[in-house]
Amino acid sequence: MLRRLHPEQPESFAFTAANQQWAKAQITKYPDGRQASAVIPLLWRAQEQEGWLSRPAIESVADMLGMAYIRVLEVASFYFMFQLQPVGSVAHIQICGTTSCMICGAEDLIAVCKDKIAAKPHELSADGKLSWEEVECLGSCTNAPMAQIGKDYYEDLTAESFGKIVDDLAAGKVPLPGPQNGRYAAEPLKGLTSLTEYEAGKPQYNASVELALDIGDTVKRIDGTEVPILTPWLGKDGKAAATKAAPKPPKAPAPAKTAAKQAEEAKAAKEDQPETLTAARDGKADDLKMLKGVGPKLEQTLNDLGFFHFDQIAAWTPEQVAWVDARLKFKGRIERDGWIAQAAQLAKGEETEFAKRAKEDGTYEE
Ligand code: FES
Repeated sequence: MLRRLHPEQPESFAFTAANQQWAKAQITKYPDGRQASAVIPLLWRAQEQEGWLSRPAIESVADMLGMAYIRVLEVASFYFMFQLQPVGSVAHIQICGTTSCMICGAEDLIAVCKDKIAAKPHELSADGKLSWEEVECLGSCTNAPMAQIGKDYYEDLTAESFGKIVDDLAAGKVPLPGPQNGRYAAEPLKGLTSLTEYEAGKPQYNASVELALDIGDTVKRIDGTEVPILTPWLGKDGKAAATKAAPKPPKAPAPAKTAAKQAEEAKAAKEDQPETLTAARDGKADDLKMLKGVGPKLEQTLNDLGFFHFDQIAAWTPEQVAWVDARLKFKGRIERDGWIAQAAQLAKGEETEFAKRAKEDGTYEE
């Protein structure tokens, strides 16, 4: 199946304040330089918030993690759990169509989807409330056929019981998840054959259904206020042991070059090298994180290269941009994010849109 960005995209994406805080906390789980490891949780939270992943959402996650947009798009388009097109505003229904479910009636459930929601998977219903797709085994084969709706499983379905669930969802209700044929969990259809002593005194619902009822977020869009944001990995003082740099792997030896070639390259590199400083003027460096695409790590790299001020960056020629670019991890970032124009504005004491936002939400506070 070809997975691409949807032709119609929203203008922008922003995490809610609580989700933004959650996302920033997740990033601290990983050592310095390994922030990209947070890409799946952040994309997932963006999807939990919006229902699907738009291009602005993908780019926003990429910016937060200092990743190239294409790298994040690769992740989003690889995993089928990420929806790349708008889903129903109430629920997106995933019907398991793998062997057990297919044998037990998944095709009848798909017929219900076609009848009540839309003729094709990933199409919105006429009222925009529902959408559906067929997915591979969801690991609930004992309770086939089944469907995942939002965060919960609806099991032991028939066309009739499933049709009722679809109608309820469209009417704004959230039906009780779990087996729909009176079964408690995944015991034999004719009842327990062992451990029968546990039959008496068991809770009304199995643990999954109980939890779904307690949390009540089956089809809820997550805004981050549902549970407190906990960061136990930061320890009591709130500082991450995890942010210590991971040991760098030994570098592979560079292929041998002729002396003439080396001299030629060194000369060219020298000519293109922008003027650098050994330290910030008057010991007061500009906050380079006010440039879109520059996070703490990249700011450190720029400082290490000898760039501390906006006016230095604003003065780079195209050759000098190439020189700096070659020394950064993600090529093309300077041009793509428009550092020169931003730096020129900031050097004049003006504010850029990005700097204003960064200051407001404190993303890159010193
Ligand atoms: S085959 Fe449907 S859950 Fe496994």
